[in-house]
Amino acid sequence: MYSFIIYTHVISAILSIGPFFVLFPLLNRMKGKSEEALNSQIEIFQAAIRIVKHAGHVLVGSGVLLVWQGNWPWTTSWVIMTIVVMFGSVFFLARAFRPNIRRFQNGLIDVDELVRRLRRSVWQYIFLLLVMLWFMVAKPNIW
Ligand code: HEM
Repeated sequence: MYSFIIYTHVISAILSIGPFFVLFPLLNRMKGKSEEALNSQIEIFQAAIRIVKHAGHVLVGSGVLLVWQGNWPWTTSWVIMTIVVMFGSVFFLARAFRPNIRRFQNGLIDVDELVRRLRRSVWQYIFLLLVMLWFMVAKPNIW
């Protein structure tokens, strides 16, 4: 059972990071597009974020089960560090993507600015996930 939970945990980690890499070519194609063509690309963008969000919930759920069922207590430094970074990225994810898409739809920023902001957010989010992945895989004893 424990290995099944780890398996679920790792699959959800893949699904939390993977979709973001698809977004770079999509962002490249958004530049200079008409509003109508952009709408379908924004929909793809939002679908990818939705997958990441659901996968993130499974990631946290299976992570909690792993600590509960396994030999790593909640006081383990790399578990605490992952949770700290994760809380940061949850707030970040909530503010990074949708508000900027809304700003664009309300005419407050143009396409190029939207693409620039989304690309920066995607990189920041990938970075946060890679930091958490490192804590999980290397399991460093920080204190
Ligand atoms: C609430 C947050 C999380 C908790 C409590 C948690 C808990 C755990 C625990 C206890 C293990 C060790 C399993 C074992 O070796 O027996 C583990 C493994 C792993 N976690 Fe997490 N996790 C969390 C979030 C994450 C995140 C955000 C990622 C990816 C970005 C991630 C990716 C992994 C991976 C790839 C492994 C397998 C690494 C290995 O055992 O070598 N986890 N997790």
